[in-house]
Amino acid sequence: MNAQATTYNEKVVRQFAVMTVIWGIVGMLVGVFIAAQMAWPFLNFDIPWLTFSRLRPLHTNAVIFAFGGSALFATSYYVVQRTCHTRLFSDGLAAFTFWGWQAIIVLAAVTLPLGITSSKEYAELEWPIDLLITVVWVAYAVVFFGTLIKRKVQHIYVANWFYGAFILTIAVLHVFNNLEIPVSLTKSYSVYAGVQDAMVQWWYGHNAVGFFLTAGFLGIMYYFIPKQAERPVYSYRLSVVHFWALAFTYIWAGPHHLHYTALPDWTQSLGMVFSLILLAPSWGGMINGIMTLSGAWQKLRTDPILKFLIVSVSFYGMSTFEGPMMSIKTVNALSHYTDWTIGHVHSGALGWVGMISIGAMYFLIPRLFNRKIYSTRLIEAHFWIATIGIVLYISAMWIAGVMQGLMWRAVNADGTLTYSFVESVQAMHPFYIVRFLGGVFYLVGMLIMAYNVWRTIWGAKPVEAAIPAPAAAH
Ligand code: HEM
Ligand code: HEM
Repeated sequence: MNAQATTYNEKVVRQFAVMTVIWGIVGMLVGVFIAAQMAWPFLNFDIPWLTFSRLRPLHTNAVIFAFGGSALFATSYYVVQRTCHTRLFSDGLAAFTFWGWQAIIVLAAVTLPLGITSSKEYAELEWPIDLLITVVWVAYAVVFFGTLIKRKVQHIYVANWFYGAFILTIAVLHVFNNLEIPVSLTKSYSVYAGVQDAMVQWWYGHNAVGFFLTAGFLGIMYYFIPKQAERPVYSYRLSVVHFWALAFTYIWAGPHHLHYTALPDWTQSLGMVFSLILLAPSWGGMINGIMTLSGAWQKLRTDPILKFLIVSVSFYGMSTFEGPMMSIKTVNALSHYTDWTIGHVHSGALGWVGMISIGAMYFLIPRLFNRKIYSTRLIEAHFWIATIGIVLYISAMWIAGVMQGLMWRAVNADGTLTYSFVESVQAMHPFYIVRFLGGVFYLVGMLIMAYNVWRTIWGAKPVEAAIPAPAAAH
């Protein structure tokens, strides 16, 4: 055991890092399967627990909470210890968060295919699991903030601000969106009704995007890009402005998910305006991440981990440009309910969340296991395969989405619809096949990663101090 291992709790980071790879593969495998079902519906096999409607939430829960969640736990525990120069607040509680989170994932994987669901998107899990999530999350908050409190340096590095906001906000969102009245062990009803329920749900849903899929991963960006590029953050002042502007603006943007619904019109417009404003902090953050490379651009040519990290931030910029555009009511009139939304989601999910998590794991795993990476060329191959996969996925969905929107609204001179709904479904077929192929590419990339990680951990001899232990990122 080296000195570093006695100072920091790396066991829990290792556990979450390995599970990030495993859950990534599981979640994406389900994604590829439901993508295949969209192209070839017979794959539903008339078996209830294999139907698209039950596997879709399994996919979203697995990729967001199991894959993304494990990446966030791993990196936040790593970063908070390094930047605070202290060990985690409690090893026992940290272990509890690991096993508790795994238990929640397994419960989700069992209940969702059985059709046990509260029917709220991204909050489908029933009340007993919701309670368990709350307990594990409180333990996570205690470990994270407890570590911040006992830090040995005065300053709190900006990555921790983003992780902290992610942990606090998700706690509040989870509790209020899941207020429900249980009627049995496996069924509950929301305490909110009608349009209030929709409003609370999308206040939750949008901020799950803003704080789970964005703020936490910005924490990753602010630590791992400077580390891998061996450059300081481009502008520390910008990062602080970025933090406050993003946190303030995100909270108001939820109603853009409810355009042209029973929600009062002014609320929809408010959501649209805040979504447009959100472009500014989002791009401020993106610029800060990418410009961290100034003076070191040449590293992009040879370092595949940096490629993952920087391309991910570029996708972040792309999806946070697209999102505000889609929130404009007249644009949303075309995009809503179409595959354009799915394209937007996956440019954020595969491009931003996926690529930055993968980059961070390639950084972490050799250091955590004290090994040299088995093959840098395989990382390079993974990068290109994943990138091709994303491009196939999102361009197919953009074309499909715009086509759907246009077909649905096309009218003849006499006012009748030009196309029946089924015609628009038929027109999607080739694009669903391309999306499926894109998904297969992305999944193959993950399998390559699993092989590389496997060979790194079990194949090579330890390299004592071969990789310098990073100090604080500032
Ligand atoms: C400035 C930032 C962003 C804005 C203003 C924004 C805006 C939007 C809009 C207008 C929609 C379509 C709503 C609808 O018609 O139903 C949407 C959907 C969505 N966006 Fe974004 N977006 C942003 C960034 C992101 C990022 C970075 C991600 C992922 C990491 C993301 C994930 C999603 C998801 C998952 C949905 C689908 C929600 C659902 O209906 O289930 N967004 N976003
Ligand atoms: C191999 C990779 C993936 C494939 C093939 C895939 C495929 C799919 C498919 C087919 C859907 C259903 C679309 C529909 O209902 O029309 C979907 C939904 C979704 N996926 Fe993925 N996915 C992948 C990776 C990911 C990742 C890594 C994330 C997040 C980190 C993610 C987040 C989501 C979300 C949030 C939705 C719901 C979108 C909405 O309701 O608007 N996916 N995915």
